[in-house]
Amino acid sequence: MSHDLTNNSPTKLRSRAWFDNPLNVDMTALYLERYMNFGLSQEELQSGKPIIGIAQTGSDLSPCNRHHLELATRVREGIREAGGIAIEFPVHPIQETGKRPTAGLDRNLAYLGLVEILYGYPLDGVVLTIGCDKTTPACLMAAATVNIPAIALSVGPMLNGWFRGERTGSGTIVWRARELLAKGEIDYQGFVKLVASSAPSTGYCNTMGTASTMNSLAEALGMQLPGSAAIPAPYRDRQEMSYRTGLRIVDMVREDMKPSDILTHDAFVNAIRVNSAIGGSTNAPIHLNALARHMGVDLKIDDWQTYGHDIPLLVNLQPAGEYLAEDYYHAGGVPAVVNQLMEQGLIKEDALTVNGKSIGDNCRGAVIEDENVIRTFDKPLKAQAGFLVLRGNLFSSAIMKTSVISPEFRNRYLSNPNDPEAFEGRAVVFDGPEDYHHRIDDPALGIDEHTVLFMRGAGPVGYPGAAEVVNMRAPDYLIRQGVSSLACIGDGRQSGTSGSPSILNASPEAAVGGGLAILQTGDRVRIDLAKGSANILISDEELAERFKALEAAGGYQYPEHQTPWQEIQRGVVGQMETGAVLEPAVRYQRIAQT
Ligand code: FES
Ligand code: MG
Repeated sequence: MSHDLTNNSPTKLRSRAWFDNPLNVDMTALYLERYMNFGLSQEELQSGKPIIGIAQTGSDLSPCNRHHLELATRVREGIREAGGIAIEFPVHPIQETGKRPTAGLDRNLAYLGLVEILYGYPLDGVVLTIGCDKTTPACLMAAATVNIPAIALSVGPMLNGWFRGERTGSGTIVWRARELLAKGEIDYQGFVKLVASSAPSTGYCNTMGTASTMNSLAEALGMQLPGSAAIPAPYRDRQEMSYRTGLRIVDMVREDMKPSDILTHDAFVNAIRVNSAIGGSTNAPIHLNALARHMGVDLKIDDWQTYGHDIPLLVNLQPAGEYLAEDYYHAGGVPAVVNQLMEQGLIKEDALTVNGKSIGDNCRGAVIEDENVIRTFDKPLKAQAGFLVLRGNLFSSAIMKTSVISPEFRNRYLSNPNDPEAFEGRAVVFDGPEDYHHRIDDPALGIDEHTVLFMRGAGPVGYPGAAEVVNMRAPDYLIRQGVSSLACIGDGRQSGTSGSPSILNASPEAAVGGGLAILQTGDRVRIDLAKGSANILISDEELAERFKALEAAGGYQYPEHQTPWQEIQRGVVGQMETGAVLEPAVRYQRIAQT
């Protein structure tokens, strides 16, 4: 080395290959002059200071993460103070509510782009600015593939929403507002006003939707500093956490602490258990299974039931409960939840986290500040808050959050005293979200309070990226009679802000020949929660006939590609059961070392 590495770095920084390579002075000069042209000095670039990327997910197109544009200032100050050099760069935007046809389509695109950046530029470590639903898995997945030191920083949730003295939660309020509109209790302008009240500040959704879930899980996995996930975006503590995150990543580079040191099987078990306790989103299995695959950790869809199903619900946040993200923060956030689980021996305490300590050391003794918002383990909101994995001739796996089954729903569907965990119903089948929106209110479908609604053509291939549409509302005429939710099953996803007990993420999807493709409106279906089964009640002969007919017709038909990426991703994407990843990308692991 021609220059001393500051602070006794034990490793050769990878950025030296760009900025200080005596074997190739021409290229070194070229690299230097262009990074100097905005004001960095040769001395800075060659003094052995770690170069730290700030992967910026915020922009005007991504309002949920937009506050990261301001937080990056404090991240930079932390990096600089610890002796590093910050280089901020944009990540392909993913806005959950704004992207057509689905934000799910862009998770793997942002992943792919970030892998190229982390691998191909002179970065020794990276701060991942996470927040809105898919930004978190996209960033973590890329960091796993490249495997350079990485730390996540949540942008933080929005402040609580309020309307006439009641908490209104983002996403969740839409379901309620839609019911009020259907009943004629509010008009269109009242509808918009009620929905907008739920988003009063910068930040991501203040409910326990996919964003709050994935940010909490990033902390439970050990990938962000303890206590970081729940701090609301506008709070001063969020600025301080940004600074601390910047400080810490520089030391992580010096310690050569990489995602592979943190994202172990134990870390995933912890995350699955925390997911149940917080009432986490049904999107979590897709994203964590994807992350595990890119990290090379053996995680299966059944692990979600094995480790997670029996964990009780401790966090009283909408949609499962009453409160919102600000309350969650004041009640103690992730450390308080982890400590409750840890006291029951349900946390792998030795799992390493980004601050260099174990999750056990970080969270032991973390107190609950408000037991209305975070319950103690012996006084949970619900027992068994995790997911059930179902299978049968309709699909090889789908998941269901049984804890959100309401007593009213149970009375309608699960009232047979001899068979209390099973129901049979008549299927009404929709092909994609547009078909559902056009026909749901059509009385000719004969939908009643015992019907089972099916959504197909909504998986990673059928509706590129998988649409969040399985939780279908009942027809307006049933809502007016007081029936707000019907049993729903599908090969799409559902919003984490929905409290619906749908059976979803069905794999394989209809578009790749899964059993949903041969279902017809009018078929009888049987769901048995005790056995974990979901079947069409037709003979094996008829089943085989229908599959043959489907094949002869050229398979299940889905809409044309609209963009190049839709076509490319459809050709290589896997099913939700295994994370809906770009399958060829899984071969590339820990590539920074090669
Ligand atoms: Fe971005 Fe909910 S829409 S966090
Ligand atoms: Mg969503």
